[in-house]
Amino acid sequence: MWASGWRLAAAVSNAGALGLIGAGSMDSGLLEEHIVKLGAACEKPFGVNIPVSNKRAGDLIDVCLHHRVPVVFTSAGGPGVYTDRLKAAGVKVAHVVPSDKLARKAESAGCDAVVAEGTEAGGHNGLQEITSMVLWPSVVDAVKIPVIAAGGIADGRGMTAALALGAEGVQVGTRYALTEESSAHDAYKEAVLRSEQGDIPLYLRSYMPTRAIANEYVKSVISAQRDGATDGELARIRGVGRSRMGIFEGDLEQGELEIGQVGSSVERIVSAREVTLEMIAQYKRVIERLSYEMTP
Ligand SMILES: Cc1cc2nc3c(=O)[nH]c(=O)nc-3n(C[C@H](O)[C@H](O)[C@H](O)COP(=O)(O)O)c2cc1C
Repeated sequence: MWASGWRLAAAVSNAGALGLIGAGSMDSGLLEEHIVKLGAACEKPFGVNIPVSNKRAGDLIDVCLHHRVPVVFTSAGGPGVYTDRLKAAGVKVAHVVPSDKLARKAESAGCDAVVAEGTEAGGHNGLQEITSMVLWPSVVDAVKIPVIAAGGIADGRGMTAALALGAEGVQVGTRYALTEESSAHDAYKEAVLRSEQGDIPLYLRSYMPTRAIANEYVKSVISAQRDGATDGELARIRGVGRSRMGIFEGDLEQGELEIGQVGSSVERIVSAREVTLEMIAQYKRVIERLSYEMTP
């Protein structure tokens, strides 16, 4: 959300991957506008991501059904809520999960695929903080439906690693949030480019784990939590609209600058097409190198 509108989704789909509109920051009117513009800018399939816990989720689903969006990724909530309705309309559904247990639940709910998202990922995260390296193969073993790996993948090396662990695809957030087509504010993108390892912690842990840059606001929440603040007090400090302030409006100190751990390794803002094509090209180079080295 706040980064992936029609421009980014179109660029990703046109480059040969599957672009997703992040509808979590939109109302149904705005989503409709983005779907129509995306349809005009791209002839390839695309999808929409809808956080189930969003109070507008039902309306956003209605818009997707009305416009015959072929793929919906649901997240941040139970897989049982909207899957039946989407499947009945012929939509392919993938649900984002942070554990093998929730992956089984998504499979039982009828989802076509799961996104196994490790704790390295940007934005909202699972309470159990399972790392990608441990999560991906455990989810692959837990379900029969395809597993899409997410959390820490920003190039072809990460993609190869995920596929080696049994995933059939990868989902990339951080690297695409830092592209020319991303609707995130330039100040946010530049702050991530300046960040170093260790600057992007998980905060609001045990309440609503979120990975973001440790700015003034995040540090104040971490210290309140250390001093024993209750969930209610944390919710009050957080208030509303923090991610909009940070990602979309570029308030570097009081906004929430959601981004994944791998953000500190990204060095340049380039086009989403370049990211996609280079990721695939590097994947092929890595596979070639590995095959060569394994030959006796
Ligand atoms: C700025 C930002 C916003 C995100 N918003 C959403 C969202 O609205 N819904 C969702 O399911 N995931 C969201 N994510 C998570 C991504 O979809 C993806 O799973 C994650 O970024 C993958 O890990 P990575 O950050 O290491 O690439 C967001 C990530 C970022 C960086």
